Amino acid sequence: MIFLVGFMGSGKSTVAKELGKQLAMPVIEMDEAIEKEEGMTIKALFEKYGESYFREKETNFLQTIKADAVVSTGGGIVEKEENELTLSTGKVIFLQASWATIVERLQRDTKRPLWNGDDEHKKDIFKNRQWKYERVADETIGVDGKTADQIVSEIVHRLKG
Ligand code: S3P
Repeated sequence: MIFLVGFMGSGKSTVAKELGKQLAMPVIEMDEAIEKEEGMTIKALFEKYGESYFREKETNFLQTIKADAVVSTGGGIVEKEENELTLSTGKVIFLQASWATIVERLQRDTKRPLWNGDDEHKKDIFKNRQWKYERVADETIGVDGKTADQIVSEIVHRLKG
C-alpha cells in the first residue's frame, strides 16, 4: 500500500492517479470514496454533522482499505494519532508544498470547509501539521514548481531505492 499524505492542495489526488497508472495499481481517493459512501459532499458533511463526524468516517474508511492500492488521503488524516498506526502498515509519501504554493492553488477553492476561515487560522493549521506529516512519512517529496510527472518519477525512484 502506498499512502500519499500532505496538506490540502499539495497535489495528492493528481499524483495518486498518475502513480497508480505508472505502477499498475488501483487508486483510492479517500474524500471521493467517503462522499460516495455518505451520499453527500465533504462540505455538506461538515455542515450537517460537523468535523468530528467526518474524522470518524475518515478513520473507519482508512481501516477498511484492504486492496494493495495507491491511496490519496485527506489533508487532515494526521489529526488522529490512531490513523498513524494504519498508515504505518504501508509506505507513506509526504507531498510537501510551501504555504505560498498552497495559497496560489487554493485561491478560488470553495469546496474545502477548512479553507474557509481567515488566513491566520489556515496558516496555523498548515504549520501545526507539518511535523505530523513528517513524523508519519517514509519519504518526503518537495512539490513546489514540479509537474505531476516529475513528482511521480521521483516517488518511483525513491520506492526503488
Ligand atoms: C481536509 C482536507 C480535505 C478533506 C476535508 C478536510 C483537511 O482533503 O478531507 O476537507 O482537514 O485538511 P484534501 O487534502 O484532499 O483537500
